[in-house]
Amino acid sequence: MRTPASLLTLIEEGVIDEVLRPLKSGKEAAVYVVRSGDEVRCAKVYKDMAQRSFQKRVQYQEGRKSRGSREARAVASGSRYGRRQQEEEWKNTEVDALYQLRAAGVRVPEPHGFFHGVLVMELVTGPDGFSAPRLGEVELSAEQAREFHRVLVRDVVRMLCCGLIHGDLSAYNVLVGPDGPVIIDFPQVVNAAGNNAARTMLLRDVNNLTAALGRWAPELLDTWYGEEMWALFEAGRLQPDTPLTGKYTFDEREVDLDSVREAINDAREVALIRQQGREARDEDEY
Ligand SMILES: Nc1ncnc2c1ncn2[C@@H]1O[C@H](COP(=O)(O)OP(=O)(O)O)[C@@H](O)[C@H]1O
Ligand SMILES: [Mg+2]
Repeated sequence: MRTPASLLTLIEEGVIDEVLRPLKSGKEAAVYVVRSGDEVRCAKVYKDMAQRSFQKRVQYQEGRKSRGSREARAVASGSRYGRRQQEEEWKNTEVDALYQLRAAGVRVPEPHGFFHGVLVMELVTGPDGFSAPRLGEVELSAEQAREFHRVLVRDVVRMLCCGLIHGDLSAYNVLVGPDGPVIIDFPQVVNAAGNNAARTMLLRDVNNLTAALGRWAPELLDTWYGEEMWALFEAGRLQPDTPLTGKYTFDEREVDLDSVREAINDAREVALIRQQGREARDEDEY
């Protein structure tokens, strides 16, 4: 195993003691199992921006605040400094989100800091003590699926109450830990207030979860939690513990009900196709 230079720096600086094994290397990051003292943790090493899709980034970064006006101008100008600045922001976003969401009671891995472009965090483990399986990889009873759905919808509500939307939530960014689902992978998190695409992204996130869990509990496929929470959020009436019903009455005076349902069913289908694509890709990786 070739250890990335950034992890060697972390060892030199005493942040971690040892790299135990690589866990997963994807398009945007490579994740390693590491040891810090007595604790086994994981370290997410981000890849360079050049390797990531540009299109996606533009959409995600709309509405995200730069730290200062000099940075904002640099990012806008597309200069080398600007690109570096953007790169830094992308990397910082995930660790910032983890701290903020932990504090808000959302089930995410506990962050242990961000050093030289490496996020060190809690390793979520599965029943065998190894790294936890992803939600898309486990078999569930209908009852478990309903319970996971309830927990995840509540976590999405808590996130929204922090002004955040995950933006890439799917059965592949949810780990199944000993106490249930844990949401991961936040570099693309979007600002719920400032982004025109926010509602679409929220609905897509919730639809992805619903489509994945609806495999085990089909009655979930007839719920509309995303629509319901967004309407409450927009009206300023969403609190972390606001009860939800999963029912939503589309306003027939303004929208064509069939086209809405069709669009949402399309989204579910797309979610399914993407999931299968990821499955195929993941199989290729191993
Ligand atoms: N805290 C964690 N605990 C256990 N496994 C993790 C953790 N974070 C990431 N992983 C594993 O690494 C994979 C990739 O991490 P992720 O944050 O989703 O990055 P990306 O999908 O951008 O490569 C996950 O699908 C999961 O299998
Ligand atoms: Mg991921």
